[in-house]
Amino acid sequence: MTGDLSVTFTGIRFENPFLLASAPPTESESNIVKAFEAGWGGVVTKTIGLHPVVNVDGPKTKFLRATPDSPRISMQKRPGTALHSSWNWELISDKPLDWWVPRITKIKKAYPQRILVASIMAGSGSDDELRNWQKLATACQAEGADALELNLSCPHMDRKDMGSNIGKDQGLISIVTEVVKEVAKVPVWAKLTPSTTDIVEEARAAFLGGADAITSSNTFPSIPLIDPETLEFEMNVDGLVSSGGLGGPAILPQSLAKMAQMTQALPDHSFSGIGGIAEFSQALNYFLLGCGTTQVCTAAMLDHAIGPNIIKSLTDGMRAFMEAKGYSTLEDFRGIRRDRVVTHSKIRRPDAKAYHGGYETEGYAATTGTPDR
Ligand SMILES: Cc1cc2nc3c(=O)[nH]c(=O)nc-3n(C[C@H](O)[C@H](O)[C@H](O)COP(=O)(O)O)c2cc1C
Repeated sequence: MTGDLSVTFTGIRFENPFLLASAPPTESESNIVKAFEAGWGGVVTKTIGLHPVVNVDGPKTKFLRATPDSPRISMQKRPGTALHSSWNWELISDKPLDWWVPRITKIKKAYPQRILVASIMAGSGSDDELRNWQKLATACQAEGADALELNLSCPHMDRKDMGSNIGKDQGLISIVTEVVKEVAKVPVWAKLTPSTTDIVEEARAAFLGGADAITSSNTFPSIPLIDPETLEFEMNVDGLVSSGGLGGPAILPQSLAKMAQMTQALPDHSFSGIGGIAEFSQALNYFLLGCGTTQVCTAAMLDHAIGPNIIKSLTDGMRAFMEAKGYSTLEDFRGIRRDRVVTHSKIRRPDAKAYHGGYETEGYAATTGTPDR
C-alpha cells in the first residue's frame, strides 16, 4: 500500500504537509522556485512589511554547535561538532511590497498547484497601522497568495506595537486578526510567539479574531554566549548584542510543549507546527499532537539554502512510516498522542498511595539521603 501524502489544511490542498517556514529560505523568487522544484508542499514567504528595514552591520544568523566529548556549546566553527541551534537577529524582508507583488504573481502562474502563503507584518498602534495590515493582505491575495500568515511573533522588535509585542497582548492579537479577516478572501494563519505564560490564551484570542489556524513556534528569545577568553559575545556589533531568536534542534521539545497545550485545549482547530524539524521522526511529533502541517527553517538553511535533501528525507520518511504502520493518510494518525500529555498527578507512582499534585495532605516520607530534585 502506498500512503497518500497530500493533506487539506484550512481548506487548502497541499501535495505534502511540509512547508518552508518564513525565513531566508523563502526570501527570494529563485529560492521559492527551487523549493517547489525540490518538492516542498508549500512555502511561507519571508515576512513582508511596509516599514523600512535595515539589518545589523554583521552576520544576521549563526549556528551553535555542541562537541560530543565536552559540555561546551559555541558558535565557533570546529570539526566534529553537532548542531545545537540557530541564533538570529534578522529582521523581516528588506525588500518592499512593490518588489514582492510581481514575484508572487509570477511564481503562482508558474506553480499553480504549489501553495504560497504570504507572511505579513505591520504595527497595531493606530488605525493607519491597522490599515497597513489590510493593505498587505489585499495586495498579496490579489497576486494569488493562497493564504496569509500574520507575523505576531518576531522577537527582535523595538516597537511596542509590532511583532512578538502584539503576540504577547491578547487584545491586540484579536484586533489585528479581525482587521485582516475583514478583507481576507483566503485563510488567515496567526504565527504566535512562544514567549508568553499560557499560549492557549493567545491562541484563543487569535481564533476569537477569526484566525483559521495557529502557527507555532517562532524562535525563542535569547542572546549569544560570551566567549570566556575574549569576554565578548560570540555574535556582536561593536561589542553590543540585542534580543535574538533561538531555532533548530534545541527548541524542538519546548515548541512541542507549547503545541501540546494548544492542541489539547482547542482540539477542533488547525495548527501548523514549527521548531527543530530536520527529519520525519521530528515532524511526526507535531502530527501525533494534532498538527495538520509542519514547517522547517534552520535545517533547510543548512542544506543548500532551501533544503532539497531535507524535503526528500521528510517525504521518504513519511511514506515509509505510513507503509510500515498501515496508514493511508495523515488523518489516520493525526492527534493520536494528543491525550497522552496529562497533569502530573495522573502519572503512575511506584506505590499505591495516590499523589494529588501537591493539593492534599499526604504526609511526607521521612527523608534520609538526597531528595529527588
Ligand atoms: C534567520 C532567520 C530569519 C527568520 N525570519 C522570520 C521571518 O521573517 N518571519 C517569521 O515569521 N519567522 C522568521 N523566522 C522564524 C522561523 O520561521 C521559524 O519559526 C524558527 O526558525 C523555528 O523553526 P526552526 O527550528 O526550523 O528553525 C526566522 C528564523 C531565522 C533562523
